[in-house]
Amino acid sequence: MSEIAKIELDGKVYELPVIEGSENEKAIDISKLRELTGYITLDTGYKNTGATKSAITFLDGELGILHYRGYSIEELAEKASFMEVSHLLIYGELPTQTELTNFETNIKKHTLVHEDMKRFFEAFPAQAHPMGVLSSMVSSLATFYPESLDPNRSAEAKNLTIQRILAKLPTLSAWSYKNSIRHKVMYPRNNYNYCENFLHMMFAMPTEDYHIDPIVVSAVNKLFILHADHEQNCSTSTVRIVGSSQANLYSTVSAGISALWGPLHGGANQEVIEMLEQIHKDGGNVDKWILKAKDKEDPFRLMGFGHRVYKNFDPRANIIKKACDDVLQKLGVNDPLLAIAKKLEKVALEDEYFKSRNLYPNVDFYSGIIYKAIGIPTEMFTVMFALGRLPGWIAQWKEMTENKEPIGRPRQVYIGKTSREYVPLSKR
Ligand code: CMC
Repeated sequence: MSEIAKIELDGKVYELPVIEGSENEKAIDISKLRELTGYITLDTGYKNTGATKSAITFLDGELGILHYRGYSIEELAEKASFMEVSHLLIYGELPTQTELTNFETNIKKHTLVHEDMKRFFEAFPAQAHPMGVLSSMVSSLATFYPESLDPNRSAEAKNLTIQRILAKLPTLSAWSYKNSIRHKVMYPRNNYNYCENFLHMMFAMPTEDYHIDPIVVSAVNKLFILHADHEQNCSTSTVRIVGSSQANLYSTVSAGISALWGPLHGGANQEVIEMLEQIHKDGGNVDKWILKAKDKEDPFRLMGFGHRVYKNFDPRANIIKKACDDVLQKLGVNDPLLAIAKKLEKVALEDEYFKSRNLYPNVDFYSGIIYKAIGIPTEMFTVMFALGRLPGWIAQWKEMTENKEPIGRPRQVYIGKTSREYVPLSKR
């Protein structure tokens, strides 16, 4: 017999169904609660609220488990390509060789962006943060592809938009960097794979080809996979809620990029490197900064530490820490920031403040050190996160539209003034 939850309100007992996910996660289905009782639930920050049923990503924060469509993140990060993982997330299965070739070929057909868009780049100030440029550019793609505005398009037409956005995000990302240094943009080269092409557009110059280093490509591939999806986080929930209004995919992803930019979310990777640089410049006194992070009067937080759902370890952080050692060693880079990061981690993990609050390094703690080692400028770190997260956002949007989820519209508990009469200006 299926479980039920009982709730007693105003002396009356109500029964609510309990639903169970495929990994035995349990939820009380409150979808009829207001109708039955007149009550709503209150959960600021959605710490206990399941916003959807999803078959894409499974995450167990207590055990440090992360699966995409049933495959462990450890296995995917070690063995798969980012394109395979993108296919897996978006279409539900790892592709066969033919499916993968078709997927990649279709994406390669759309890597160019309309020449008119180049003029938009020029209008941004050189110091413009690339995340601001990227979200504007992605949103403006909808104006070039007006057919994407129709929410009732065929599956084939939706797929075309998916291919377009996957193809164009690396181009727009690399061009936002080139524009910030006022260099000529580099056009995509379709003989390269997805990660190689991005690196080419970032680092090649009209005067000089970029040497594609397999160590760098493999590092980018791994980092993109680790970022590819993370169930209902801030940017993904933004994507689902914007998409639920039947807004087009470009605007929807643009909203996700804006949500990701914040320093408590994807923007943390830039903040981590800036923090490590600051500690380094300050003489590397890790204890002093740990004290600052613990001081409630001080706004400083240890960036790259803590997570809303991981309470023992972030499995992505473990993979990245190892990759960080490997990449730096293979590239022969000796970065003092890595030593500071490791010392910070060690001190924090032994400290009662961090232990009692279950604060551990998250995905952003070591990723910046790899990005720095492979030449990605600090302001581009969150763009790298966005590039990796794109297939996840697409998969979540696709799932939501296919399941015909209703428009997202939370309720609230109003705590403002009660009804009062308008007072004319002269009497105030
Ligand atoms: N440094 C110092 N104290 C911290 C930190 C930190 N990084 N993170 C949390 N705390 C403390 C916090 O002050 C609070 O203490 P108290 O109970 O005494 O008030 C307690 O730990 C719980 O923190 P919270 O802010 O209520 O937890 P949350 O679940 O709302 O926030 C978080 C999670 C990730 C926003 C937070 O840990 C944080 O700000 N971390 C730094 C930013 C960061 O690295 N973000 C990237 C997250 S992973 C990438 C992604 O998927 O976005």
